Amino acid sequence: MLDPLAPDRVALAEIALRIDADGTIAERAEAGSAAYAALSADAHALHLDPADLLLPGLTDLHIHAPQWPQRGAALDRPLAQWLAAHTFPLEQRYADLAYAESVYGELVPALLAQGTTTALYFATLHEPASLALARTCLAHGQRGFVGLVAMDHPELCPPQYRHPDAAAAIAATRRFIDAVRALPGNAAGLVQPVITPRFIPACTDALLAGLARLAAETGVRVQTHASESDWEHAHVLARCGCTDTEALDRFGLLRRHAVLAHGNFLDVQDLARIAAREAAVAHCPISNAFFADSVLPVRALLDRGVNCGLGTDIAGGFSPSIFENARAAVLSARMLASGTDPGRAPAARGAGAAMRLAFTEALWLATRGGAQALGLSTGQLAPGTPFDAIELSGRGPVLRLDGPAEAVAQRIVCHASAAEIGRVWVAGTCVKA
Ligand code: GUN
Ligand code: FE
Repeated sequence: MLDPLAPDRVALAEIALRIDADGTIAERAEAGSAAYAALSADAHALHLDPADLLLPGLTDLHIHAPQWPQRGAALDRPLAQWLAAHTFPLEQRYADLAYAESVYGELVPALLAQGTTTALYFATLHEPASLALARTCLAHGQRGFVGLVAMDHPELCPPQYRHPDAAAAIAATRRFIDAVRALPGNAAGLVQPVITPRFIPACTDALLAGLARLAAETGVRVQTHASESDWEHAHVLARCGCTDTEALDRFGLLRRHAVLAHGNFLDVQDLARIAAREAAVAHCPISNAFFADSVLPVRALLDRGVNCGLGTDIAGGFSPSIFENARAAVLSARMLASGTDPGRAPAARGAGAAMRLAFTEALWLATRGGAQALGLSTGQLAPGTPFDAIELSGRGPVLRLDGPAEAVAQRIVCHASAAEIGRVWVAGTCVKA
């Protein structure tokens, strides 16, 4: 088993696990102990091939489920155009429930096959389609956090794809929260609703304030986009007279476990505010390379105690793999640190070596970081926590899993893909064989 215990520390241990009937890790025994010998002899205990290992499940902290058909397309357009010309028209199609069911029925198992045991989803404005996404997560056993998108601003949102006003969007969000909580088979809360103002430019002040009141009343988590690109950052500064983070805080949306996607233009005051509120940032390095006009200094966020995880941002990012996003996080941090202009002296070229992200840190973000951002105890293989895990094979031609823990962590970040993923468990249930 490889456990990313802290951003800078991974442990490699031969263990045996006993899982409770409710899917919780009841006992974890290290090789050599009497408990290990007893568990290893137990036919009901988990047995792995010696060349394979167990890793905590991956969390995708930012993904747009309806944009799945658009992955790898139109990435050459600027964000505002990409939204208006490609993304909003695609999302409108989810008025058709049958279309939604077919896309979501393909997406959720595809993510489980990538090792994503928990996903924080943006859906669309449509209540039946968004509820279908929640039902699909339940049917496939994925830990799903699903947001009905709220957007009502007449300037940014097209007339055919927006809520008629703030009151309508707030009422729809309230109905959606109740409907997800009441879904048959969801008594344990495997799937949870999320309050989802798309981003400040798409929402009126009345909507932002009303959703904050709803979050305070219901205790439901919040997600949104914040400080993503030059365009979006400048738009909010001009409209609100402050940064996205300060504006969200004034409205009451910067709550515990609120997830802000991207965050490339966060300043030091924003970071302090996010840390103080125990909110979080979803780092989406592939998407940021196309739409952000910047690189998130994720290392600086970790240094300042900001909760962080990784997001694919399908379809601003092209890859559904959190492993691939972990690779991109390491690579983009290296380029941020070193700079790219050979015309400058090396010492003056980049942000400095302190901005590098270690492979162990990237693996921690992919597992424990994302889970912690949501306030979950998963992302580690500890007694008393739900058994969300993936089996990685070291028997293929590319990925080797022997050696010291840090070397194994590096090889996983560099090489792991769906091809090496065997069984996947969520809350103790094997959801992919
Ligand atoms: N900002 C508002 N909506 C979106 C979206 O769908 N994708 C990205 N990358 N940024 C957004
Ligand atoms: Fe996004």
